[in-house]
Amino acid sequence: MTDHQALAIGSVTLDGRAVLAPMSGVTDVGMRRIARRFGASMVVSEMVASDELVKGSAEAALRAEGDGVDPHVVQLAGCDPRWMGEAAKLAEAAGAAIIDINMGCPAKRVTGGYAGSALMRDLDHALTLIEATVGAVSIPVTVKMRLGWDHDSLNAPELARRAEAAGVQLVTVHGRTRQQFYKGTADWSAIAAVKRAVSIPVVANGDCATADQAREMLAQSGADAVMIGRAALGRPWLIGGIARALENGGHVVLPSPAACRDAAIEHYETLLSIYGRASGLRHARKHLAAYAEEHAAAGYAVPAALRARIVVSEDPEEVVGLLAAAFETAHVEEAA
Ligand SMILES: Cc1cc2nc3c(=O)[nH]c(=O)nc-3n(C[C@H](O)[C@H](O)[C@H](O)COP(=O)(O)O)c2cc1C
Repeated sequence: MTDHQALAIGSVTLDGRAVLAPMSGVTDVGMRRIARRFGASMVVSEMVASDELVKGSAEAALRAEGDGVDPHVVQLAGCDPRWMGEAAKLAEAAGAAIIDINMGCPAKRVTGGYAGSALMRDLDHALTLIEATVGAVSIPVTVKMRLGWDHDSLNAPELARRAEAAGVQLVTVHGRTRQQFYKGTADWSAIAAVKRAVSIPVVANGDCATADQAREMLAQSGADAVMIGRAALGRPWLIGGIARALENGGHVVLPSPAACRDAAIEHYETLLSIYGRASGLRHARKHLAAYAEEHAAAGYAVPAALRARIVVSEDPEEVVGLLAAAFETAHVEEAA
């Protein structure tokens, strides 16, 4: 694939090469809508437990929500092919354009249930889940994985090859092993072995936060696109900025503070409306803290007292006022 060809995932064509990573408790539908509107080439839902979705859990349905997100990608996790197939069918019926399967999550809660990255220890079992999912839907299925369980079993190329043979249309590789959790640094060059093993598109993931890093990640891995997770918390517009920089060269151009302010307020209000006030406030806290922190880190004089207050306030009107005030602060250099 050359730089100029659009990235195609089966019938879904992306408009760029920077994707928002799935993050439990973070990439709610509010954040995904904003990231996509600011130019992220694709956004992925939080991991949704396949059995919970099938059993009708309201929380699982909210995690899989995709209203206002196009293309809508639902990430499923699980260890039973029956639940995976049923959940994929439900997600497709509810409007998903792509199903992603989680084979990378290192959390014990997930690996203990023999899902997430534990599946990389038993590729035959992993394949039964992939086959059940691919067989259940007519939309593309993708897989997100790590390099392997540990450094003695770097089997991502083999999993990717077998996944491709089973009909998977794209793989994402986080350049760490499961045993690394989030320690050390992601090995972008190790992802190249996966790229060589398959002819479907490969997305590289892990420790990318700038346009230069994205370019370096693509160069080292040979991947077709980058996926960005933690760096987007508090600045969902970053992904679109990186997508544009990859296309046009140069650095990330951030939106105006006013545009960021409106997006942050919209995100907060979306959380309150979809989760209800009490749960919405809980979900919003990490985002509110991150919006204020990231704006300060970008060189704006956001007062410490405002940052402290915004995460404890339970009064939506006050929070909206504080968000507006945070984004109306002067640039430190201009203020000096
Ligand atoms: C809070 C948090 C939640 C995550 N949840 C998921 C998830 O639900 N599904 C998944 O495949 N990966 C999940 N991840 C992993 C990310 O998708 C990504 O692979 C990892 O953070 C490395 O990318 P980054 O360095 O750009 O953050 C999560 C990561 C974080 C920090």
